[in-house]
Amino acid sequence: MTGWTHRHLIDLACFSIDDYQEVLALAHRFRALPVTGTRKLPALQGRLIATLFFEPSTRTRSSFELAAKSLSADVQSFTPSNSSIGKGETILDTALTYVAMGADVLVVRHKSTNVPAQLAYELEKAGETTSVLNGGDGLHSHPSQGLLDLYTLARYFEPENPSTDALKGKKITIIGDILHSRVARSNLWALTACGADVVLCGPPSLLPEEFKEFVSAPPPGIEKDPIPKRGKIYITRKLSEALQDADAVMTLRLQQERMQENLLSDTNRYHQDYGLSHQSLKICGKNVPVLHPGPVNRGVEMSGDLLNDRSTCLVEEQVKNGIPVRMALLYLISAI
Ligand code: NCD
Repeated sequence: MTGWTHRHLIDLACFSIDDYQEVLALAHRFRALPVTGTRKLPALQGRLIATLFFEPSTRTRSSFELAAKSLSADVQSFTPSNSSIGKGETILDTALTYVAMGADVLVVRHKSTNVPAQLAYELEKAGETTSVLNGGDGLHSHPSQGLLDLYTLARYFEPENPSTDALKGKKITIIGDILHSRVARSNLWALTACGADVVLCGPPSLLPEEFKEFVSAPPPGIEKDPIPKRGKIYITRKLSEALQDADAVMTLRLQQERMQENLLSDTNRYHQDYGLSHQSLKICGKNVPVLHPGPVNRGVEMSGDLLNDRSTCLVEEQVKNGIPVRMALLYLISAI
């Protein structure tokens, strides 16, 4: 039925428009189904999905596990603090242990870039058919978050038919700690692929100028960009400029845990310059949705009032959409 070719999902740089389309369409079908309790879908019955999260997570891990259960898969989750990692076992040997127990898919999150890609490579080399799905690696990539954000935006613009076309010609503003954000990187691939222009906004310490060129060259391992014509990326340091004429705004958590030097000393100042509120959103000139991947620092990236306002802030909607999007990914990957 599908043209899907990806056994593993490491990043979105290799995604074609058909790939995005496939995920959005399937997620939209799953989103419409009540798949709890006895109404679970049988699609992945007998499959084992293991979630290997070497970094903390609230949303992503639970969302993958609920998605797997909604498709009737068995789920095994691994917690590093309680495991043989503490006895010196390597990540690869840990992964191979779950493969030996019959895991069909490993969902992997790690603080170091490339761990999911390396595992996928080693498993292929060992002749294993287990898929690796990146649940977030270092600063590099968080493909399922990029896709759920894309679905959330497409559904906002075109509730009946949330396809990639819904993003064409839109101006999407992303604010904040772009430097440390794998979510921003995955969104840049996804949004520009669908023909949206992206305006990045933040202080120079958290948003280097090089981001303008982010999608210009394919990353290692990808010979040719599968997207013939991408949207453009712009950078501005001024919130008022970034918000002018925006069709949607995404703001990102200040990732203090990844800031090696004291890149940002004063979060009150940051809130004044880059924090969103009902007041600052007036600059957009129309009602625009606000997204945030979570977890949110209340009163830093946005005001508490804005976070509570479900008519504008789509944070809850993003969490809800995470399950059908991840169901779509597990379903497509398991068919290879
Ligand atoms: C993000 C992550 O872990 O990359 N959160 C998420 O998965 N929803 C963003 C963050 O930690 O700020």
